[in-house]
Amino acid sequence: MFEQDKFDQVDVKGEPPLQEPERQYYFMKKCKELAEKEAARLGRPLCMSIQTLGCQMNAKDSEKMSAVLSYIGYEPTEEPVADLVLFNTCTVRENANLKIYGRLGYLKNHKKKNPHMKVVLCGCMMQEKDEVERVKKSYRFVDIVFGTHNIYKLAELLYRQLTEGGQVVDVWREAKEIVEDLPGDRKYPFKTGVNIMFGCNNFCSYCIVPYVRGRERSRKPEDIIKEIEGLVADGVIEIMLLGQNVNSYGKGLEEEITFADLLRRVNDIPGLERIRFMTSHPKDLSDDLILAMSQCHKVCSHLHLPLQAGSTKTLRRMNRSYTREDYMTLVKKIREKMPNISLTTDIIVGFPGETEEDFLETMEVVDQVGYDSAYTFIYSKRTGTPAASMPDQVPEDVVKDRFQRLLKLVQRRSAERTDRLLGQVELAMIEEVNSQDDSLVTGRLSNNAVVHLPGGRSLIGRILPVRLVESKGFYYMGELL
Ligand code: 5AD
Ligand code: SF4
Repeated sequence: MFEQDKFDQVDVKGEPPLQEPERQYYFMKKCKELAEKEAARLGRPLCMSIQTLGCQMNAKDSEKMSAVLSYIGYEPTEEPVADLVLFNTCTVRENANLKIYGRLGYLKNHKKKNPHMKVVLCGCMMQEKDEVERVKKSYRFVDIVFGTHNIYKLAELLYRQLTEGGQVVDVWREAKEIVEDLPGDRKYPFKTGVNIMFGCNNFCSYCIVPYVRGRERSRKPEDIIKEIEGLVADGVIEIMLLGQNVNSYGKGLEEEITFADLLRRVNDIPGLERIRFMTSHPKDLSDDLILAMSQCHKVCSHLHLPLQAGSTKTLRRMNRSYTREDYMTLVKKIREKMPNISLTTDIIVGFPGETEEDFLETMEVVDQVGYDSAYTFIYSKRTGTPAASMPDQVPEDVVKDRFQRLLKLVQRRSAERTDRLLGQVELAMIEEVNSQDDSLVTGRLSNNAVVHLPGGRSLIGRILPVRLVESKGFYYMGELL
């Protein structure tokens, strides 16, 4: 947790401290002095726009950076243009990269008119050499570039840019230390993500994540527990434990501990009400974890279990380390212990070499499992991954046709699953006022399904019983009991 005392003690008159997090506290204070001058010159507070693409890990990183910038004096705005615009990028599929270049193009003219504006690019896409070269060459107006391993250095890099000018680029090939105790910020006061590990060692053959997020590193359990206790004291009642592959949590730590053990410890934290986690790899999901999930009453009734493909042949070429049968056996074991659990998944269509028969196997698994929802992706070729150089890339029209067929099946099965709770009363965490209709609020059930119900702002942040009166395919309309 961020410690105010330590922060207050940092003296900005001398040289910057060498150790972290004190070094960043020093630069936060230094930046704050400069930001105050800038705000006085402009005659208004400075504003920031943080634009995040990608997964929950990125969302969490953005929360951390937002906290640092808030301290410095930037106020958040929903506008796409601000005194400081930060893009936290994703590179898992090519689309995400294209989106960023589109947004940069849009900003270029604004920056010409407002040279004081700062543009910051960070995250997964910046871990790719070619992308950084492109930014250095063709996007000179970008002020600061860094990757995924040193986001904690934001204040230091900003200070350097503010005092020295020019384009500051600091991308690390590998992670060094896990820096604890930086300030945190939250989109919602009552729920947040907590990193339990960083990186991934699996090298699925289509995936760029292990190259941009580095090797697996677990945080110490006591640091995780301390952070969650601090969050609970600050009003958080739901947390999501975050990692690319949470099931292999604990490897490499001095203390012998598994993810199941961690879950049990987190479940014991008084005041915490809901626990979620992302993402599970089927190959590492142990019987003990299934047991722990079924025993820990705070763990939500939802498991995201990426399938990726239903054909063993494709799974082998994806380097997923399980067969179709292994996956089905796992689902059976999970449902035996937790009959009401919601299962969700990720599926890739059009992986190189995928035949019609392979695809039909994916369709069969989707039909048999009956997912509550599924994220379906068209395979995207990522330079540097083994799949990029595999023969038999599937033609675009074939992939699009398969994608549509899969989507239809996913939607039909998902609607059937949603219907099963109709008329029942479930506990929902009320999260926000409905964005389309402000006479409604939006809540989330333990199984992660969304429910909209009549109600006002005062309900936000509470877990309340809701009757599910209508099913809309993948969400519900409800009413407060
Ligand atoms: N193409 C398409 N989808 C991908 N994913 C990861 N890499 C790729 C890729 N190259 C999907 C996987 C993963 C999810 C986060 O993104 O399904 O589970
Ligand atoms: Fe990518 Fe596979 Fe690691 Fe998930 S488990 S981040 S899909 S390499």
